[in-house]
Amino acid sequence: MIENFREKVEQTIDLLPPMPSIVGQLLSALKGDDADFRVIGRIISKDPSMAMNVLKIANSALFGLAQKVTSLDQAVMMLGTNEMVSLCISCGAVRSLAAPQGVRTMDLERFWRHSVATGVIAKIICRQLKASRGDDLYLAGLTHDVGAVVLDRFKHDVYQEVLDLTHRENISVLEAEQRIMGASHDAAGSWLMQKWQLPEVFVEVAAYHHAVTRASQKHMVAVALISLADLLARLTLHGFDGNMDGVVVTDTDAFKVLRKKYPPMAHLDVVKLVWDLHSAQPEIDEMEGILKGSLPS
Ligand SMILES: [Fe+2]
Ligand SMILES: [Fe+2]
Repeated sequence: MIENFREKVEQTIDLLPPMPSIVGQLLSALKGDDADFRVIGRIISKDPSMAMNVLKIANSALFGLAQKVTSLDQAVMMLGTNEMVSLCISCGAVRSLAAPQGVRTMDLERFWRHSVATGVIAKIICRQLKASRGDDLYLAGLTHDVGAVVLDRFKHDVYQEVLDLTHRENISVLEAEQRIMGASHDAAGSWLMQKWQLPEVFVEVAAYHHAVTRASQKHMVAVALISLADLLARLTLHGFDGNMDGVVVTDTDAFKVLRKKYPPMAHLDVVKLVWDLHSAQPEIDEMEGILKGSLPS
């Protein structure tokens, strides 16, 4: 058990490299009336490596655009301002959470594979449900477990014990964190999202993806979508959060919340959905490659 846990974790958060400065500029441009695609394009172009990655992602299978986009203005026009800002935040998050030289970390590659898979699967579920929420959900999926990186950076040796316990006793990461640290990655993730001043939905997804019904009414559907995507990512072997034994997808709060919002979910063939998700592998691999490219070399 660690005393003054929140205070100490927040000190770790303060030591992380900040989000690239253009992210703050993009978020305030989105809040204002001037979220014109040219303004957004101009801000992104100030960060050339970010601009390059965003263009790669815009042209990836994830968006399935009919024609290649070659300029930022074109990309913003095709994908929309919100989606573009989300992409920049994704690249920024991966960059900020990269391991500094000489610092021991958990297996970040495996961690990001799980996160990317969750984001991609969330988008696929949205597509299947014809839900309009696809835009920001990829990012919310990508960042849902960032608290784990924070806890690992806070006390790497202790977090290693958490991961060992998860495997040894076949329990969830959440349970192992609670047992060893007395707090868990969901809380730490929401503190980081707040610190980065990301929109509320990301704070709630990080905070409640393991306790969907605690989310606010406003964001409960988004939280449920990511929670389900997280579960499916683990079922399709993109694991991170630990044990999946005995989990019945249709019995989860996430599934129930979504079924209420999207009645066709009641007829969803979960086994088929899980099977179909294997075909998302190329999308997951491609996104992973692009995000890795956003790391400083
Ligand atoms: Fe989690
Ligand atoms: Fe997860």
